[in-house]
Amino acid sequence: MKRVLMFGDVNVDIMMGGMESLPVPDRETICETYELTVGSSAAICACNYASLGGDVSILGLTGQDENGEFMLRKMRTFGINVDLVRRTSEVGTGVTVNLIHGNNRTQVTYPGTIAAFEGASIDSSIVNEFDHLHFAGPYLQTKFRPHITRLLDLASEAGISTSLDPQWDVTECWEFMEEWLPRLTYLFLNRDEALSMSKASSPEESIRWLDVKTACALVKLGSEGVMVRVETAVKVVSAFSVEVVDTTGAGDAFDAAFLLGVLDKGMELEEAVRFANAAGARSCTFIGGVNARSSVDDVSAFLAAQGEE
Ligand SMILES: Nc1ncnc2c1ncn2[C@@H]1O[C@H](COP(=O)(O)OP(=O)(O)O)[C@@H](O)[C@H]1O
Ligand SMILES: [Mg+2]
Repeated sequence: MKRVLMFGDVNVDIMMGGMESLPVPDRETICETYELTVGSSAAICACNYASLGGDVSILGLTGQDENGEFMLRKMRTFGINVDLVRRTSEVGTGVTVNLIHGNNRTQVTYPGTIAAFEGASIDSSIVNEFDHLHFAGPYLQTKFRPHITRLLDLASEAGISTSLDPQWDVTECWEFMEEWLPRLTYLFLNRDEALSMSKASSPEESIRWLDVKTACALVKLGSEGVMVRVETAVKVVSAFSVEVVDTTGAGDAFDAAFLLGVLDKGMELEEAVRFANAAGARSCTFIGGVNARSSVDDVSAFLAAQGEE
């Protein structure tokens, strides 16, 4: 089994589900469900990877607070190795409040530890313990971000594969991306991220732009599936049709399942994308990013029910 290290944010998600209306200034809005759960791209991805039976560790920062304790406890219950998570008393653990109304999700984030996470002391003695490094959500991690190029170089020197899911960059400057692209094994983007970064007008155009810069770009297109180059052809590997409850973390569930497919299951690119589309679709039928708890058997059963093996 390949040992995977995920770098990034470790924050909580507060999910307010089934809101009767979108929030109105100076008014109270009632919702149907509430849950405090695992948030952040890296932690959600790690929980999904561990649910699939993979060997995963996480390196990030939490506060010396209740939310930090909650995150460590939750991640341990998923079977994630949290020994590399650091604690700070200087800021609180990051929090995102998710306001879910129909298919809309409005978010408010307190960055806290996400922005305070720093990477200067991470060196080859840590990196070389692993077979794959995954980076998630660097555009909120202002202090960690400048260290990623160096860590990608350490991985490359040691023959360790790498992946990145940048998530959205509010500045749309995509700082350091030109340095990261040639160093990455896999790049995960959604449609908006791909179009913004490449200044392209279609996902296909963005894939062509990315293709000359990076080894393997996967552009996630929500309910349409994923666009990727397979050998010489650019393809859309279709998504599966499901009754969507909440799309939070679907992209991270996709990333986790794709990585497990290629790293541990020896899947070819297209097979891994199909497997990951199934995990992403399954994730959409639960509130929050980690409640699907998809095992490999669950994803296989889902594929079988869709008429695929
Ligand atoms: N409405 C949906 N129906 C089925 N699958 C979905 C749906 N939304 C997302 N997915 C699956 O999850 C993946 C990631 O979702 P997407 O919204 O594209 O990315 P992100 O969450 O990173 O923004 C998709 O490529 C697809 O496989
Ligand atoms: Mg995403």
